[in-house]
Amino acid sequence: ANDGYDLWLNYRTIEDAKLLAQYQKNFTGYYIEGNSATMQAIDTELKKALPLLLDKKIDKVNSINDGSIIISTGKMYIDLGNELQSVGKEGFIIRSVTINKKKCTLITANTDIGAMYGVFHFLKLLQTNTPTDKLSITSVPKLDLRLLNHWDNLNGSIERGYAGKSLWKWDELPGVVDPRYTDYARANASIGINGAVINNVNSNPLIMTEEYLPKVKVLADVFRPYGVKVYLSISFSAPIRLGGLKTADPLDPEVIKWWQAKTAEIYKYIPDFGGYLVKANSEGQPGPQDYGRNHADGANMLAKVLKPHNGVVMWRAFVYNSSPTEDRVLQAYDSFKPLDGDFDDNVLVQIKNGPIDFQPREPFSPLFGAMPNTSLMMEFQVTQEYLGFANHLVFLAPLYEEVLDSDTYSKGKGSTVAKVIEGELTTKKLTGMAGVSNIGNSRNWCGHPFAQSNWYALGRLAWDPEASSADIANDWIRMTFTNTEAFINPVEDIMLNSRETTVNYMTPLGLHHIMGYASHRGPGPWVDRAAQPNWKSTYYHRADKDGVGFDRSTTGSNAVSQYFPPVRDKFNSLETCPENLLLWFHHVPWTYEMKSGNTLWDEMCYHYYDGVKEVRNMQKTWEGMQPYIDSERFEKVKTLMEEQEWEAVFWRNGCVLYFQTFSGMPIPKGLEKPN
Ligand code: GCU
Repeated sequence: ANDGYDLWLNYRTIEDAKLLAQYQKNFTGYYIEGNSATMQAIDTELKKALPLLLDKKIDKVNSINDGSIIISTGKMYIDLGNELQSVGKEGFIIRSVTINKKKCTLITANTDIGAMYGVFHFLKLLQTNTPTDKLSITSVPKLDLRLLNHWDNLNGSIERGYAGKSLWKWDELPGVVDPRYTDYARANASIGINGAVINNVNSNPLIMTEEYLPKVKVLADVFRPYGVKVYLSISFSAPIRLGGLKTADPLDPEVIKWWQAKTAEIYKYIPDFGGYLVKANSEGQPGPQDYGRNHADGANMLAKVLKPHNGVVMWRAFVYNSSPTEDRVLQAYDSFKPLDGDFDDNVLVQIKNGPIDFQPREPFSPLFGAMPNTSLMMEFQVTQEYLGFANHLVFLAPLYEEVLDSDTYSKGKGSTVAKVIEGELTTKKLTGMAGVSNIGNSRNWCGHPFAQSNWYALGRLAWDPEASSADIANDWIRMTFTNTEAFINPVEDIMLNSRETTVNYMTPLGLHHIMGYASHRGPGPWVDRAAQPNWKSTYYHRADKDGVGFDRSTTGSNAVSQYFPPVRDKFNSLETCPENLLLWFHHVPWTYEMKSGNTLWDEMCYHYYDGVKEVRNMQKTWEGMQPYIDSERFEKVKTLMEEQEWEAVFWRNGCVLYFQTFSGMPIPKGLEKPN
């Protein structure tokens, strides 16, 4: 049995006998230089992993022998020239080497954390059955900040969380330290995640009080050996709510003094505290605009306070309250673009991947590329707020990859979103990616066994935004389940197709935000007609008897003009707009002829029906996987797929029947009988 607790660190004996024999011969022991807390954690990991993987006793050794795995920092066993220097603070080198005629594997870095990343990479090689005779690997993370954002509340609930309650047991801390905190940090370290914002962006300022800071400190202490820094979401009005001041105006000297003192207090508890994440003037949260100041005024005030402590500010660009009538899609860009160049060096503007809100498919946010003098950070959502909660199997790496590979053309062809966030196209050089966590205290962390792959993918893409979803899926399957090809190939197909399947049964052809009004679960395109004047612009399908879709072309809200010319022109024209974003940018007649030759209406129906069909195919494929894995995870996935199928049918029928009241057209032949 396997309850999924071990995630992708599910160390099992190498199944292939020949390979096992080879590994057993190649690896006889491990030698660790130094004994910092990080090196001790490496020791613990190897002590656990190697005997399980290699099915033999394998110990820490005190001298280098044939078959030693050497973990070191600084001290050189072979001349690596400048190479070691080039891997920086977090990169690593893995080499097959001969030292004093002994064949060894060297894992080396400039820091202990770099060595730990190297060790986890090495374990991955074994877990994925990679040949290890002639290793020559150099790896350096392309982004500085690789973070999870937990939307966890102090009462244990999680905003948009579907895998149980918060991992952080505030009532037990600081006295009782759940060993699970260590496993959380281990899992993060294994994929290179180096920071956690532990509380909700809709922040309760109590987190910054004397009551909570000692608890936060304990978490920071547990995470530290694994290279995971703690950050906090703050409330901009904390000086009023905690400090009793009359204002939170960022230019008020008393306010600045309050933040200085509070920040210094935090650093007393946590000397390597990472900094603040801020949701300001967004969805009712307080912010600098309440005092006639702008986002840069607010961010820079906090940046100056954090600067002496080496902290950063991550200021979110998720705002849309500037006007209830203006197309929401325009608002983040219109609010932030004019501030380009105004932010301090230790500020990152954290931008959601698309202009609305983590939809199954959105075009990339036009802010990427539009602020060349600002450090821009990517915010992806790992928790499946709009993608079926933890009930639907949706591998999100293809969504992330689609965004990262999008070409902004900000500096000509090849100006991809990945290059923008890697700092290659900006004058300011702090870089980062955050994922809104899907982790809770459910035994398997993420609810759906496959939702673990999204946590894993976020880490891998934060390390290398140009990594491929297929490679990520392949590694994850091997590490989490098995190296049996008969399992890997079909399951990889399921994963790689799963996002498109979900788009098909939820929001095909560029439809968006037609989910249940507040829960965001299940279909709710009819909400458009509800008496919600301020939200009128939120539900965007704009269906009428002539057609469907939101006109954001130059004749409509003109959102297309927020993109650089070749992209703008492509989106602006009905002929060149990618069909998978058609209804995002255009209001299109029901009878419009699509590339397939179908009318728009028929095409939409085919997508919805295909979505359901694909879920059923996925179920069939999964049925065949029973022989290859434990019954516990097999059955869990099977049940969840039944739920997914039920919801996919609900989505299809709900949307097709609703939109039909506008199109007035028949459901295409062959599809008439919904089942
Ligand atoms: C979405 C989500 C909210 C969340 C917000 C944010 O709107 O539904 O729950 O607070 O995003 O990112 O701040």
